[in-house]
Amino acid sequence: MSLGPCEIFEVGPRDGLQNEARDIPVAEKIALVDCLSRAGFSRIEVASFVSPKWVPQMAGSAEVLTGITRTGGVRYAALTPNMRGYEDARAAGADEIAVFASASEGFSRANVNAGITESLERFAPILEEARHIDLPVRGYVSCVVECPYDGPVAPAAVAEVADKLFAMGCYEISLGDTIGAGTPDSIARMLLAVRDVVPAGRLAGHYHDTTGRALENIDTSLSLGLRVFDAAVGGLGGCPYAPGAVGNVATEAVARHLSALGYETGLDLDVIDEAAATAQAMRQEVADV
Ligand code: HMG
Ligand code: MG
Repeated sequence: MSLGPCEIFEVGPRDGLQNEARDIPVAEKIALVDCLSRAGFSRIEVASFVSPKWVPQMAGSAEVLTGITRTGGVRYAALTPNMRGYEDARAAGADEIAVFASASEGFSRANVNAGITESLERFAPILEEARHIDLPVRGYVSCVVECPYDGPVAPAAVAEVADKLFAMGCYEISLGDTIGAGTPDSIARMLLAVRDVVPAGRLAGHYHDTTGRALENIDTSLSLGLRVFDAAVGGLGGCPYAPGAVGNVATEAVARHLSALGYETGLDLDVIDEAAATAQAMRQEVADV
């Protein structure tokens, strides 16, 4: 019996590759995105217009966005921390953008060199500009369970930032368990608080798989009404400003899990396995150097 649609938002080319040690050539990134474009995703995050001094791995983002072969029905997304990033993302042809905040002060300062309030103030003009041209803006909240600098994060703190991003005009709020510390219990407590301020249908789960519990956390999220999950093909990833963070939950594992439960993802598993092999080979080369 079908339980209805469930979407995987592919973040491998951005969240996955931003943390790899090797200087990955733009052509390899484009090849990965072009493969993913054949898999049936509606949204793929392919770029990040942040400071190359902070995240050197994302320096070729404009070349990636302009070099990929676009597939109809796919929105190609990019992270934008400030107006400069927004303008660069627009110039390179991003179909949607994402702003990223944190539920903890420590991570906010480490990641964007600003406290939570100041980071939201930087996003305001981005959302204003995007609204004029109907450009969809997604909002991330990091450290929804635990922060590598401040420790456990209160569900109310997550709800407060999610509420603000939603009120500012983000069409969807992606909840990041940045260091993969979440358990079904802590994820449920967090989601119950966030659901009070943002409808479950506008939330996405973004779970890193540090302790191998991401699929259980997805099950908990499904039971609380979420139907969008971020994942990275091949389980690539991490965050340079979150010590100990490992990859996002692997797209191929989530796709199989959702389909075994009876959800329809619309994804072609053969293509995803091909992309996962490509991603793993990129990582393999990292391990070899
Ligand atoms: P700053 O140093 O406070 O800002 O950085 P600044 O305005 O003083 O600029 C510093 C330098 O960066 C200047 O260059 C600017 O021109 C340049 P300089 O004069 O020194 O040569 N700069 C830029 N360059 C390119 N594009 C830009 C840009 N803006 C400034 N857009 C800033 C503030 C936000 C820029 C910096 O902290 C930054 O880039 N942070 C990004 C960190 C990042 O990308 N982290 C990973 C993504 S978040 C994540 O992975 C979590 C997520 O997956 C969810 C989860 O798992 O929780 C989303
Ligand atoms: Mg992440």
